[in-house]
Amino acid sequence: MVYAARHKGLYLIAFLMLFGGIALDAVIPSFVRKLVDDVMIGQKTGELMTLLLSMLGCFVLRGVTDYLQEFSSDKVGWKVAEDARVDLFEHIEGEDQTFFRENTPGELMSRVKRDTESVGTTFGFIGIFMIQIIIHVIVMLACLARLSLPMALVCIVLMPFIAVLGYKGEKKGDALYGDISEETATMNKTAGEAISGIRTVKAFNKEEHEKKRFEKRNKHFFDLSVRLEWMFGNCDAGVSFLGRAMLFLSILAGGLLVISKKMSLGTLASSVEYVNNLVWPMMEIGWILNEISSAMASSKKIDNIFKRKSRLTEGTIDSVADDELVFSHVGLNLEDTMILDDISFTVSSGKTLGIMGATGSGKSTITNLALRFLDPTSGTILLGGRPSTDYTFHALRSAFSIVTQDIFLFSDTAMNNIKIGNPDMSDQIAMHAAASAKADGFITHLEEGYSTVIGEKGVGLSGGQKQRLCIARALAKNAPILILDDSTSALDMETEREIQHELHALEHKQSTIIVAHRISAVRRADEIIYLDRGRIVERGTHQSLMAMHGRYYETFVAQYSKEDADGSK
Ligand SMILES: Nc1ncnc2c1ncn2[C@@H]1O[C@H](COP(=O)(O)OP(=O)(O)OP(=O)(O)O)[C@@H](O)[C@H]1O
Ligand SMILES: [Mg+2]
Repeated sequence: MVYAARHKGLYLIAFLMLFGGIALDAVIPSFVRKLVDDVMIGQKTGELMTLLLSMLGCFVLRGVTDYLQEFSSDKVGWKVAEDARVDLFEHIEGEDQTFFRENTPGELMSRVKRDTESVGTTFGFIGIFMIQIIIHVIVMLACLARLSLPMALVCIVLMPFIAVLGYKGEKKGDALYGDISEETATMNKTAGEAISGIRTVKAFNKEEHEKKRFEKRNKHFFDLSVRLEWMFGNCDAGVSFLGRAMLFLSILAGGLLVISKKMSLGTLASSVEYVNNLVWPMMEIGWILNEISSAMASSKKIDNIFKRKSRLTEGTIDSVADDELVFSHVGLNLEDTMILDDISFTVSSGKTLGIMGATGSGKSTITNLALRFLDPTSGTILLGGRPSTDYTFHALRSAFSIVTQDIFLFSDTAMNNIKIGNPDMSDQIAMHAAASAKADGFITHLEEGYSTVIGEKGVGLSGGQKQRLCIARALAKNAPILILDDSTSALDMETEREIQHELHALEHKQSTIIVAHRISAVRRADEIIYLDRGRIVERGTHQSLMAMHGRYYETFVAQYSKEDADGSK
């Protein structure tokens, strides 16, 4: 509604044209009556030219009103969809992480593209067309009733049947369309899985199995499409039959009046014109009602996204003065599951915190909370002595350089991928970061060096190469707090050692949080916390944890040996 209100000018044009069109539709049949009664029967041939020219003028004007009405109403529709799409996209961008776990990218893309379009056309073309049909039917019926009440009565009786049949057909068709679009998605997924997992398919001799799976989906798709055509065929035939029956019966009623001299032939001819003007709206009404009901469903889905309560709100402070990060009794309880419980630690300026723990123990969630990808359900997170919620997202996230566990690279050049945090960065700084992350070696060997396009559409990189590029990207951003979430796991021992050496040189300049499974990655940290199912079970320095003979010690023994462990203490 809000979006539609912005386009009053376009609505005004559309409605002016709509009324103009209807007025012309009401006038044109009276020329037909004059043509038949006065010129043909009354032999007033002198009026022929004026009548023909007037009719021609009306037809041209009718074309113009149709064109302008359609153009302006379509434009409103696209504008509403455009505005809603931008707002929805912006809103989705601001959602927390839980939202993205609940909604798949495919679903969200469908909301942003298809549902906004559906709502847009309803506020535009469909909505205006609906209003046009209602007024048009009333005016045409009134004109017809003025000329011939019996003919109007025939129409009034038959019109609802045509509309209901059309609506039912459309409704069934819509349900089938839904099945077909779901089947299309399943078919694409089946084929997509087999193609992207082709090596696994071949290695397990599953080609025939995959072919059969695809054949089954394809057959189902064919059956649904045939059913849809069959159903539409039946419905169209029914609607068209009833439309013609309405025309036939009204001509019959009018014909009887002409025979009994109660009506002139010209009046019959113009009445037939009015009946014709009543047939097409009935044929369209089913389609329109369906479009409106599916737009209402779309609008509900969009509204649900806009209404979501867990949306994060940002603060107003736009710069972070001090980089001390404090977690104070932080807990996260989602859907009655305790993901983190009573997590407290401090990372003072220039210090390093190591986080270890089994998979699923909540390590990445801690990093997500620090950057406010979601908020804790209890406790507070302080940055520079203030709750992190006091800062704008921009200020808060500018304080962190993060290498996330899920590697993501844009389809862009290697250089631009490194500069992503600051496009104005000089090439030297980016290359220096790449060197520290041991990424320059392989980048310079790429066909076009730093200008090679990588990512989804570019050249394929190995897991370790991607990781190194992500580390380079984080180092180049050079924010006060560096977070590495399991970001050396895909590297060989030697490269990992080299990168750690580089990172060590950065220590004391940057605060660092290192999430890792390997002891070698965290052993130099000022404090190490060991998580188990969302709780800190051990904490201390490497030495003190080793002396504890607890979980950390056991991990060390598993990764090195008991002799090393006892020697290292
Ligand atoms: N937004 C969320 N909504 C619901 N559950 C979540 C959310 N974020 C994390 N979890 C759950 O919290 C638990 C901890 O996840 P997390 O990714 O922090 O583990 P991790 O310690 O980083 O594990 P790994 O070593 O495998 O990376 C998991 O069971 C995960 O499914
Ligand atoms: Mg993790």
